Amino acid sequence: MIYKSIVRPLLFRFDPEKVHNFTMSMLSGSVLPSILKLVNSFEDKKLETKVGNLMFKNPIGLAAGMDKNCTAMKSWQAMGFGFAEAGTVTPIAQEGNDKPRMFRLPEYGGIINRLGFNNAGADKFEENLEAAKDELADDFIVGVNIGKNKRTELDDAYQDYKFSFEKCYQHADYFTINVSSPNTEGLRQLQQKKFLDEILRSLQELNKELDDVYSSRRKDIFLKIAPDLTTAELDDIIGVSIDNGITGIIATNTTISRETLPEGKYESGGLSGKPLEPIANAVIKHVINHSGGKLAVIACGGISGYDDVKEKLDLGASLVQIYTGLIYEGPGIVKRLKKQMTSCKK
Ligand SMILES: Cc1cc2nc3c(=O)[nH]c(=O)nc-3n(C[C@H](O)[C@H](O)[C@H](O)COP(=O)(O)O)c2cc1C
Repeated sequence: MIYKSIVRPLLFRFDPEKVHNFTMSMLSGSVLPSILKLVNSFEDKKLETKVGNLMFKNPIGLAAGMDKNCTAMKSWQAMGFGFAEAGTVTPIAQEGNDKPRMFRLPEYGGIINRLGFNNAGADKFEENLEAAKDELADDFIVGVNIGKNKRTELDDAYQDYKFSFEKCYQHADYFTINVSSPNTEGLRQLQQKKFLDEILRSLQELNKELDDVYSSRRKDIFLKIAPDLTTAELDDIIGVSIDNGITGIIATNTTISRETLPEGKYESGGLSGKPLEPIANAVIKHVINHSGGKLAVIACGGISGYDDVKEKLDLGASLVQIYTGLIYEGPGIVKRLKKQMTSCKK
């Protein structure tokens, strides 16, 4: 409540990216995680969810893009998330697109961003991930979301994915293959069958090789898809994903559509939050109904309350992720959702 009446109005007076950087520096420090833990601690065994090889202590996760360099894992754990997805990380550090590149749409509960994979690169990411993993509870799951550098040609993209996969293999609990950000030119073409098959096949080969080397469990792999695909494209993606034995699909990334907003002029980039919700839900529904139970779905897009989570779980999703809802509702959202879920579960 304090968040919506005091903190948010204050934060929303400043530039969104500056606020993001400031908040991330606070969340990456040592003080805030302890306070967050004190205020937000709540777990219930009823919320445990098994997906692939992993047992999630609850199905509420932080979506990728908030913690691009994996610096604030203790805070996500303290907020009560069952898992957090760090990244998107690319092999080499890059600046991203020109600023300004992040915009709030407060009257619609949305955000438009065109950041373009600004991140510190895989070496730094892996260092942060290893340090974070040392301090986190064993049951807090960390996903690593990987992408390609802006300069990498589409034909060579699979090598970028392999690079970050290998680099982070030992410390990641699962990997997400991001082929769906609208802010890196051409990236979404990697959702086409020929590119996608090459990426997933080469990653699963590497997954097996590394599994033999480290004699650990093979890593679960998820594919993160766009909400702007035709049903034929979706069906291709479902087929290639099943053929390559990945664990599931994260649906969805941000949309380039503005169809759910009133007619007007908007910034370019990916739209998230409430205006994305119906578009994402249609994709989630299609994937679940057309994958014959062979792919788990992590549902993402527009969650800001219990009814939104329920809708996605009722569609058949196993887990959910939140980004924009956290900005609008504040960190208390995680505990609220979990409490409502437990009181509704028999
Ligand atoms: C500012 C911003 C940056 C994002 N960066 C990434 C990213 O780096 N990688 C990624 O896979 N998704 C990224 N996303 C997409 C989110 O992970 C999520 O899929 C999308 O925002 C829909 O969820 P939401 O409506 O809860 O925000 C970003 C979203 C926002 C708003």
